[in-house]
Amino acid sequence: MNPARGRAQPTSHLSLKRTLLRSALVLSAALACVSAVKREDFKTCSQSGFCARNRAYADLAKETPNWMSPFQLSSSSLKLQRGVLTGDLINTQEDTQASSKLGLTFELHLLENDAVRVRINERDPVHPRYDGVQDTVLVKPYEFAKDSTYQRVDTDNDGIFTIQYGAQNQNTVKVSSSPFKIEFFVNGVSTVVLNDEGLLRLERLRDKSKEGGDDTKLVDQAPEGGEIKIEKSELERKMEENLWEETFKGSTDSKPRGPESFGLDITFSGIQHVYGVPEHASSLSLKPTKGAGAAYSDPYRLYNLDVFEYELDNPMALYGSIPFMLGHSKNSTAAVFWMNAAETWVDVEKTLSDEQDSGILSWIKAKKVALKPSTKTHWISEAGVLDLFVFLGPTHRDIFHQYTSLVGTTALPQAFSIAYHQCRWNYNSQQDVTEVDAGFDQHDIPYDVLWLDIEHTDGKRYFTWDHAKFPNPVDMQQSLDAKGRKMVTIIDPHIKKDDNYYVSKQGAELDIYIKNKDGESSFEGWCWPGNSQWIDFYNPKARDYWASQFAYDKYQGSTKSLFTWNDMNEPSVFSGPEITIPKDVLHYGNVEHRNVHNLYGTMFHSATAQGLTQRNETNQRPFVLSRAFFAGTQRYGAIWTGDNMATWEHLEVASPMLLTIGLSGIPFSGADVGGFFGNPDAELLTRWYQAGIYYPFFRAHAHLDSKRREPWLFGEPYTSQIRDAIRTRYSYLPFWYTLFHETSVDGTPIIRPMFIEFPEDEAVFALDNQYMVGNALLVKPVSKPGVTESEVYFAGNEKWFDIKSYKWEQGPGVKKVASPADKIPVYQRAGTIIPKRERPRRSSKAMENDPFTLVVALSSQGEASGRIYLDDGESYGYQQGDFILREFRVSNGKLSSHNLKTFNNKPSDFVQRIGSLRIERLVIVGEEKPLTKVTVGDKSVEFSSQKIVDGSYVYIVKEPGVAIGEDFEILLR
Ligand code: GLC
Repeated sequence: MNPARGRAQPTSHLSLKRTLLRSALVLSAALACVSAVKREDFKTCSQSGFCARNRAYADLAKETPNWMSPFQLSSSSLKLQRGVLTGDLINTQEDTQASSKLGLTFELHLLENDAVRVRINERDPVHPRYDGVQDTVLVKPYEFAKDSTYQRVDTDNDGIFTIQYGAQNQNTVKVSSSPFKIEFFVNGVSTVVLNDEGLLRLERLRDKSKEGGDDTKLVDQAPEGGEIKIEKSELERKMEENLWEETFKGSTDSKPRGPESFGLDITFSGIQHVYGVPEHASSLSLKPTKGAGAAYSDPYRLYNLDVFEYELDNPMALYGSIPFMLGHSKNSTAAVFWMNAAETWVDVEKTLSDEQDSGILSWIKAKKVALKPSTKTHWISEAGVLDLFVFLGPTHRDIFHQYTSLVGTTALPQAFSIAYHQCRWNYNSQQDVTEVDAGFDQHDIPYDVLWLDIEHTDGKRYFTWDHAKFPNPVDMQQSLDAKGRKMVTIIDPHIKKDDNYYVSKQGAELDIYIKNKDGESSFEGWCWPGNSQWIDFYNPKARDYWASQFAYDKYQGSTKSLFTWNDMNEPSVFSGPEITIPKDVLHYGNVEHRNVHNLYGTMFHSATAQGLTQRNETNQRPFVLSRAFFAGTQRYGAIWTGDNMATWEHLEVASPMLLTIGLSGIPFSGADVGGFFGNPDAELLTRWYQAGIYYPFFRAHAHLDSKRREPWLFGEPYTSQIRDAIRTRYSYLPFWYTLFHETSVDGTPIIRPMFIEFPEDEAVFALDNQYMVGNALLVKPVSKPGVTESEVYFAGNEKWFDIKSYKWEQGPGVKKVASPADKIPVYQRAGTIIPKRERPRRSSKAMENDPFTLVVALSSQGEASGRIYLDDGESYGYQQGDFILREFRVSNGKLSSHNLKTFNNKPSDFVQRIGSLRIERLVIVGEEKPLTKVTVGDKSVEFSSQKIVDGSYVYIVKEPGVAIGEDFEILLR
């Protein structure tokens, strides 16, 4: 957040602080009435030169009958070798001579994981276009498809180059030469089309001195044999605006390399719902930004920004960006990853469905245009090369796997970090920390982590402590650690410019700050500490330096149980254009910031994670929370949705935001529980806890000026309701940890939109106010005041069991269910088994030797299955086989457990010990006929039954005498 922005720069730290505090006070008073984002601080598409130019081109295409892309591939140049198709691409309007000098290179890579990559670059640019995103985003050099897995299947006499590929040969890609177009088919059905609308456009780098010559002229489209439908001069004017310099609110972007943007349309054919491209405070199914029914006037913007008091239902950019989009329909699903870290905008347009179309149906038929509801998207990036991946599944799971095998999966987190985190800006002193910690114990509420915000430092000098307030940080951490609790401190990327601050001095000596456009002086700007400099995380020396600062002897007062929060890493620069760093500042290797903006925060996040890993000889896993993110962030830690507000609407939007971020590859995310700005009343806070326990990252946080709101401060009945919610989270930790393991292996999101579990049920495609945790729990947050009943959509033909009462609802259909103040609707899906630990303790660490409960929800066929993953929760021992992975299954009246682990190592002492923890309880629901006997081997085991409704019981088997890590069979008759 940035209360200081827009104000004159204060001259001293103290006065800055006063100004910040005063602004914050004014702000919180204002919040009580009405608050709104300062929209005018941020560009709209029409204020962003390259976005406006590319959108104008799209408008021209639309308004021009029979528009045809001027791009052509030279068919004779096409070569397919070792999984790579290459060729020469020309813009017939610019490259009149089709000279190879002016041409573009085209590459299509067939990858071993069935993904396809398409790259377009300038053949012989004035300067090389930035192509370094792949070095930081792709996990490793990927494998090309083996020759035996694809084949060319055309004869090329129609100018179409056709390749069949995929594990079952199910995919086809057709590359058309003239006009240039790439169409992907799954089992013969067109699914993704590139340049279908002919919006491919690429601004070639030019020599400014020759500007105005023929070389540089931007020419508009002359439709085939037709006339130009919009005034050429008007278009030309639009196209020539803001090419070499651009000013916004008094800040000028010097654009030393001139215009270099590009755009391309991507059609999801036959697909009406598209999802992804976070971060926006909007719905799960993306709303159209163009054409009939457009909900927004601007495209979705991807440009990491610190947006103060963000507005809801808006495509404005927020803190993170992931240029990944998934399309889904009943019959197909596909995704694209646009690998570009520069400012990017994405327009979404839906074609009309059959019903709505009736008016123009005959016209379309006459034109012989295939009538299919489709989603057309238009992607526009400011710089770099055109580099994108297409994933055709065929299932969602395949897509998540294909995508994350390129950009990485979620690093398996420390077990404590998926428990509850208590944060506020700020816990003010060591005494305050002691009291809050004690408060949790007094009220029997578990928590794992206490957080310290910027006020814990000596004047916002990170890696330091305000010793007056925190005289003994080591003691403080150790006394938390003694209860199995951790601490997190904040470390931001802006370094206060101060010769008496060692980090500031060493940064200057090592010359590791981001440079001004002159390439000499370090960039300076304003942030929390006043005048600051920004570490250039693109410099390998800077990353090493940064990581080394987390060593215990460097970060004085830090201990093994201290972890890190990276904030303001968009980066937020209070004095900068759009509250961020200018685009023309320079990184290591003279890379202009504009090329890498959306990745800066991730580079910082990764260097911090590296530091936390290398500070220990024993290789403890790091925990770092970041606000900015990009594709690949999941490899380094968690993220949260930034400065939300204590309103019901912000509670509501958290679900679609987290679902979107999760399906785009970052499942470890959460929203500030309670809302950051403002003061939630007791009901809102309680409802937020009840929802927040189902966020993968579960942290309460509050603004400096908000009233204290630790879980017990509102008194009864709220304290008990919040306690119950947090304890519920703790009881499900084995299930959550298993889901984290699963996503760390194959990228499947942890919290999932309903359509991922029910891909054929159209009723759920746009549903985003309820969702699944894994494949087993259905959660419907209450996000309105005074609610005691909620409408829940129960998908599928099976039962859903209320997790508290075990009363069931039968799908499919919407049902009104009770959601009184002490619970939100949460149901376990029939056919699943969930591992739990049900003994309330004060931290997750204190539960690590506790026995387990398995909750078995039988399907109508009397079947169920589920998994458990267990390891030490903190080290990398699991990479050597120190873990348990088992599947529980009920079929034919028998519950069995078997090993899924492929490691052949002899079980270590650790695995043996943890594997001997017992299963103390089985809870079985959904039995169609009364259970009469439970036997393990030849021993019969006692059980009790409890009536749920007439004819339906929950059976509780106590102490079945089996361990979590052993093979067993339990007969249920
Ligand atoms: C930013 C963060 C917020 C934090 C504050 C002070 O606004 O988003 O969580 O409390 O800075 O560090």
